[in-house]
Amino acid sequence: MTPSAPPVAVPMTAPVTTPPVAPSTLWEPEIIAFCCNYCAYAAADLAGSKRMQYPVNVRIIHAPCTGKIEMEHILDAFLKGIDGILVAGCLEGGCHFLEGNLRARKRTDRIREMLAEIGVGDERLKMVNLSAAMAPTFVESVQQMVDTVKALGPSPLKESEPREESQHLESEG
Ligand code: FES
Repeated sequence: MTPSAPPVAVPMTAPVTTPPVAPSTLWEPEIIAFCCNYCAYAAADLAGSKRMQYPVNVRIIHAPCTGKIEMEHILDAFLKGIDGILVAGCLEGGCHFLEGNLRARKRTDRIREMLAEIGVGDERLKMVNLSAAMAPTFVESVQQMVDTVKALGPSPLKESEPREESQHLESEG
């Protein structure tokens, strides 16, 4: 009869495990703010020079006028995985191209209807009208958009598009 092997010491400490992290706690929405050159961009610029804080996940895209933002620009951004879009133009009656912001309002309303119909959520797109002095309103609008989109979660369109496409859009902006 052969002697049995000595017992192996088993550590009594519990195995170290990393608690699972819910994906939602890692996710940060990607937001675009299309700002017209004359008022909204100036308001964003003023917010920056006054060192007003707003979320860093907002990428500002400078447009000559909101009337120049076509439906395909907005739809394309959503298809490339953007979670929310803010269109910011001059006050009604204050557009430097007369009616650009009125056309933009109609377009955003139409796209909002489409987003609601396809289940993406119309809250993911919003238009605001600002004067160049309305930096606090710009900051508030951006914060509201981020909060709204965070509550909604990632865009359902995000998963359908490879990440490189989203990066491509960012490099274009
Ligand atoms: Fe601002 Fe047209 S120039 S919306």
